[in-house]
Amino acid sequence: MTSTFRGELETLIRARYPIVYLLSSEEQRVEEELREVAARMNKRLYTWSITRGLTDRPDQVNSSTLRPIEALLSVEKLPQNSVVLLKDFHIALTDNVVKRRLRDLSESLRRTYISLFILAPVLVLPPELEKEIAVIDVPLPTVEELGELLDRVIESVKDNPNVDVSLTPQEREMLLKASTGLTLMEAENVFARSLVQKRRLDVEVVLWEKEQIIRKSGILEYYRATEAFENVGGLDLLKDWIRKRTRAFTDEAQSFGLPAPKGVLLIGVQGCGKSLAARSIGSLWKLPVLRMDVGRIFAGLVGASEENMRRAIRTAESVAPAVLWIDELEKGFAGSQSSGFSDGGTTARVFASFLTWLQEKQSPVFVVATANDVSALPPELLRKGRFDEIFFIDLPTQKEREEIFTIHLRKRGRDPQKFNIPKLAQAAEGFSGAEIEQVIISALFDAFHRGTDLDDEAILREIKHTVPLSRTMREHISALRIWASDRARPASSAPDKEKPRSKANKDTSAD
Ligand SMILES: Nc1ncnc2c1ncn2[C@@H]1O[C@H](COP(=O)(O)OP(=O)(O)O)[C@@H](O)[C@H]1O
Ligand SMILES: [Mg+2]
Repeated sequence: MTSTFRGELETLIRARYPIVYLLSSEEQRVEEELREVAARMNKRLYTWSITRGLTDRPDQVNSSTLRPIEALLSVEKLPQNSVVLLKDFHIALTDNVVKRRLRDLSESLRRTYISLFILAPVLVLPPELEKEIAVIDVPLPTVEELGELLDRVIESVKDNPNVDVSLTPQEREMLLKASTGLTLMEAENVFARSLVQKRRLDVEVVLWEKEQIIRKSGILEYYRATEAFENVGGLDLLKDWIRKRTRAFTDEAQSFGLPAPKGVLLIGVQGCGKSLAARSIGSLWKLPVLRMDVGRIFAGLVGASEENMRRAIRTAESVAPAVLWIDELEKGFAGSQSSGFSDGGTTARVFASFLTWLQEKQSPVFVVATANDVSALPPELLRKGRFDEIFFIDLPTQKEREEIFTIHLRKRGRDPQKFNIPKLAQAAEGFSGAEIEQVIISALFDAFHRGTDLDDEAILREIKHTVPLSRTMREHISALRIWASDRARPASSAPDKEKPRSKANKDTSAD
C-alpha cells in the first residue's frame, strides 16, 4: 500500500479522529496496514467481525460481542491506545440503536486515545452520521506495489521449465499498467491464471480479468475496441485532435511534460457520428471504453445515486488508462437545475460531484461525453477546465458524405469503385451518416429481393424515398448551429473550401 495512505492513517489516529470509515474491498491488506501503523505508534489493534466479535487475537472468538451493538458498547471499556477495526460494519449501519450509539461514541471517544475504524466495501453513510464520520477511499495498489508482487510471482516460478516469465521492459510496463485497478489478491490470481493458461505473463489475460470486474459493477458497460477509427467518415478536425493525443497516456508523454487529456464534449446533429467517434477513440488509442449509463446511475433508492456515481468513477479510475464514454449526457442530467424542487436535490448533487471530479481529476480517464440537445445541458458543464475541447458535429459535407458512402459500401463487401460516389453523395445532401448507412441497407434489401446486385440506381431510389431528419428538424439544427458558433469548435473543416456553392447558403445546407 502507498506510504501516503499509511501516513494518512497515522495522521487520523494522531489527530484523534474518533470514527473513520475506510472504503475498500481489500480487508486483509487494510488490516495488515493498520496493524503496522498501530504497532509503530505503540497501540494495540482490536478487530471485530460478526463471526468473531471484538478481539485483539485474530485466532480467538469473543462470543459476548458478536452483535454490533455489543461491540460498540465494549469499545469504551478498551484500554487507552486501542485501535479498533470493525469489519463489514456497513451492514449494521441501518440499525437505529447502532446509529445512535455511534453518535454517542463520536462524542465520548474524542476524550480518549481510542480510534474506531469502520471497514466496508461500499459506502453506507446514514445522514445523521455524515458529520461524525470521516470517509477515506482506500487507494488500490500502486504500479510499484504491483511491480513488487510481480517480482515475487516471477521469483517463485523462475525455475519451472514449463513457463516463460521473461518480459521486455515495454511488456512489463504494459502488464503492470493493465493490472492497475486490481487488488493485490486479484492481481496475484490473474498472474497465476496467465501462467497456467498461457505459460507466460500475458497482458490479454489481465485485460480480460478487468472486463469481468467492470461487468460485475453493473453501472458501466465495457466496450473493447469495437469500432475501427478508420470507419469514421469525415470529421477531419476532430480526428486530427484525437490522433495527436494517441500516445498521451504513456510514460513517455508524461516525462515530456504533457498533462493527461481530460476529455471532449461532442455536441451535434443526431446520427452524425458522435457515439461512433466516442467508441472509435478506444480502438485508436488501444484503451478500453467504458460506457456510463447516466439513467442507470439514478435508478434505485434515494441516496443510492450518489453511491452509484462514486462507484462508476472509482471503477473507471481503477481500470485507467481508459475512455469513459457518457452518451447523451443531457438525458441524465437534464433535471439538475430544477432538482431542488423535483427530487430533493439528488440530481444536482450527483451532477456537482461529477463536475468536481471532471475538474480535478488526475487519473488517466479520458471522458467523451455526447449530447444532441444543448438546451437541456447545464451551463456549468461548458465552463473552462471541465473539458479540453467542445466539438460541434454538423451534417456531413459533400466530401464527407462521399467518405461515408465509401466506408459503408466497403463494410458490406461492395467495391466503392463500382459506384458513382460523388453522385450518390450529391443526391444525399442533408443526410446524416446514420441515414446514409440506412439508405445502403435498404437498397441492399431491395436488390436482394429483386435478385440483382446493389447498384447506383437502387441507392438513388432509396435516397429519393427518404426524408432526412434535417428536413423535419430544420429549426432545431439551425438553433444548434447558432449555439455552437461561439461555444464549440467545428469537428470538420469548413465546407465552403470544397463546395463553393454552399458558401452563400451555409445555414440551409440542411435542406
Ligand atoms: N461520420 C460517420 N462516418 C461513418 N458512419 C457514420 C458516421 N456518422 C454516422 N454513421 C453511421 O451511423 C450510425 C449511427 O451514428 P451515431 O454515431 O450513433 O450518431 P450520433 O451518436 O451522433 O447520434 C453509426 O454507427 C454509423 O454506422
Ligand atoms: Mg449517439
